[in-house]
Amino acid sequence: MSKIFVDACFGKSTPYTPVWMMRQAGRYLPEYMEVRAKAGNFLNLCHNPALACEVTLQPIDIVGVDAAILFSDILVVPNEMGMKLDFIKGEGPVFDKPIVTEDDIDALLGGKEVAERLTYVYDTIKLVRAKLADDKALIGFTGAPWTLATYMIEGQGTKTYNICKKMMYSNPALLHKILAKVTEVVKYYLEKQILSGVDVVQIFDSWAAAIEPSKYDEFSWRYMVQISDFIKAKYPHIPIIMFPKGIPAFLDNIYGNFDVFGVDWSTPMALAKEKLGERYVLQGNMEPCRLYSKEATKACVESLADTMRDGRHIFNLGHGILPDVPVENAKYFVKLCQEVSKR
Ligand code: CP3
Repeated sequence: MSKIFVDACFGKSTPYTPVWMMRQAGRYLPEYMEVRAKAGNFLNLCHNPALACEVTLQPIDIVGVDAAILFSDILVVPNEMGMKLDFIKGEGPVFDKPIVTEDDIDALLGGKEVAERLTYVYDTIKLVRAKLADDKALIGFTGAPWTLATYMIEGQGTKTYNICKKMMYSNPALLHKILAKVTEVVKYYLEKQILSGVDVVQIFDSWAAAIEPSKYDEFSWRYMVQISDFIKAKYPHIPIIMFPKGIPAFLDNIYGNFDVFGVDWSTPMALAKEKLGERYVLQGNMEPCRLYSKEATKACVESLADTMRDGRHIFNLGHGILPDVPVENAKYFVKLCQEVSKR
């Protein structure tokens, strides 16, 4: 059975424009909070395929999106490379020993060996694919090497990225060594996700905006392209979505063999369409906070549908949904997207 989401990623004409939401399986859903409580904590949930499968499927049943995104986290990758990870309440993810020296990066596991350790992710994918309706797509994902490196170097989330940027300008070779090592792992990680049953993959470069435009290619985009080239050469039937958040000043420099460009909320859709719309299908890009108001949601969905009336579009938020968004408003957004684009 054809999956409308996969067709849309390849720019084929579909009965309506499909929709999913970034961080669609999460804390805004009471059903998610129940399962997380059962798991004890967030990492346990990621490590438990039966429960991770359950929360992956929740948004399909509850809000009616066209694609499920695998429930996991980008940080399981550095965790399996050997960096001890904790999610601390109120603070977010923390690595106990950030990378400082070349020896630190040499000490980490790499390549296929790491990809093979992420068995709980592949087990989750197999369970989800067995339960998900045939016409719904399953999206696998990874963090971009740069976004993963920011956590590996800073040890946690950061507002300034000063430790990473000190390395970028004073010891770029070390940063490249980290990025290259993560890139190798991620190639095989996505390959294994595909072999386990995902229909689409997305690369999240959530912290792209931390890099000045003239350095973005060197420290992030080219590594993402290496990953997409590797996947496309072997699995051309799997659409690839690139999501670099917050880089309107880099749009003229986007290149590479992938299918969908995820437009974040700070980039006007019309600008992205003008610069990239002929080469890539565009995904996005409602400001997630519009979900607090049905009127604000409706105005944006209608404007997006108008801008993208020629198709080659996937509805989504321009970044992740927030935990205090009313579920009813998320449902309203999904239904509206599916309706306004029926043709
Ligand atoms: O529905 C989905 O989108 C799938 C699940 C998913 C999660 N994390 C679950 C999660 C995905 C795709 C991610 C990716 C991720 N993780 C990114 C890139 C995506 C983005 O939104 O930019 C990043 C930067 C991370 C790192 C991360 N994980 C942070 C910074 C945090 C803390 C966030 C916070 O607000 O506290 C997490 C934890 C996390 N990952 C949660 C969820 C549902 C919240 C954990 C909880 O249940 O308390």
